[in-house]
Amino acid sequence: MSASSSGAPGPGEPGLDAASLAAAADTLAAGGLVAFPTETVYGLGARADVDAAVAGIYAAKGRPSDHPLIVHVASPAEAVAFAADWPPLAQRLAEAFWPGPMTVIVPRRAGLAEAAAGGQSSVGLRCPDHPVALALLRAAAERGVAGVAAPSANRFGRVSPTSAAHVREEFGPGLMVLDGGDCEVGIESAIIDCTRPWPVLLRPGALDRDRLAQVLGCALRDRDEAAPRASGTLTAHYAPRAKVRLMTAEQLRVAAQVMPPSALDKVAVYSRVALPPGVALGARRSMPADPQACAHELFAALRELDASGADLIWVETPPELPAWEGVLDRLQRAAAA
Ligand code: TXA
Ligand code: MG
Repeated sequence: MSASSSGAPGPGEPGLDAASLAAAADTLAAGGLVAFPTETVYGLGARADVDAAVAGIYAAKGRPSDHPLIVHVASPAEAVAFAADWPPLAQRLAEAFWPGPMTVIVPRRAGLAEAAAGGQSSVGLRCPDHPVALALLRAAAERGVAGVAAPSANRFGRVSPTSAAHVREEFGPGLMVLDGGDCEVGIESAIIDCTRPWPVLLRPGALDRDRLAQVLGCALRDRDEAAPRASGTLTAHYAPRAKVRLMTAEQLRVAAQVMPPSALDKVAVYSRVALPPGVALGARRSMPADPQACAHELFAALRELDASGADLIWVETPPELPAWEGVLDRLQRAAAA
């Protein structure tokens, strides 16, 4: 079912109408699945406070059930309720960035969101900045739902969806999808582990580490052996069907010139640099020079180039700057698959 097909959106609320919203909240309350937009990517939601409902997410995604999910809430107060301890690090981040594209990992209150947390003693919490997501979370809360567990609405290991159409490509017409248009940010939230005395950046997002560090008053450490499992942090993730290769501008130019034309036909390129005229690629898309603009379109671009029928997607390596870290991370994982 497509909730977007019935009724008109409310003012300032893309794709949101009261009937669709109520139907979606009812579905969540009954333990069903609803895909919904957030400012980062679309999420595949189920109520976090019922383990059997959460099991539906793992089954639909084909995701191992020990990979923890993020619990989404409409307010910081609802987030704190899931925590056994609410560290000052988490408080500072929540105050500065919620609602927004940032997830904190904190110690989990025993007995809560066990399945959503993949059995771990910590829990990931996020307050998303999207009118549809927030309205859905509030409507669900009115129906007694405490938190909505939601991974990205794609099958395990695939490219995350940034439009309702992407979600339908992943799961077909059987899933209820709230259509909120294209996601503004385009890559998943930054994840910060706050369970240790120092902050650890488990997954870079659109909020770069300099901004996070400014708020925290200290640098973020990188993930190490002690960090909790995170499927978005598996080396090979975000994989298109075609093989992705990260290349410098120079490597791209040379490769395009030495590759026989018949083989170039099966190559798609995503680059800032222009290729010499006369190079007949299977497909090409120019990469925005601005990191936020690139993040916004990244997953749609990968899907589009993949759909061109190319066997290879050559991607120009983004600049090694903090603002590009989230995009670079997704591309490296896509290339590792
Ligand atoms: O932007 C986002 O974060 C999107 C939207 C839908 O909110 N969600 C998302 O969820 O990207 P997912 O499941 O695709 O990625 C969540 C990441 C995974 O890498 C997961 O392992 C990690 O968060 N995670 C969740 N809870 C965790 C925990 N307790 N400890 C460590 N990692 C955790
Ligand atoms: Mg994901």
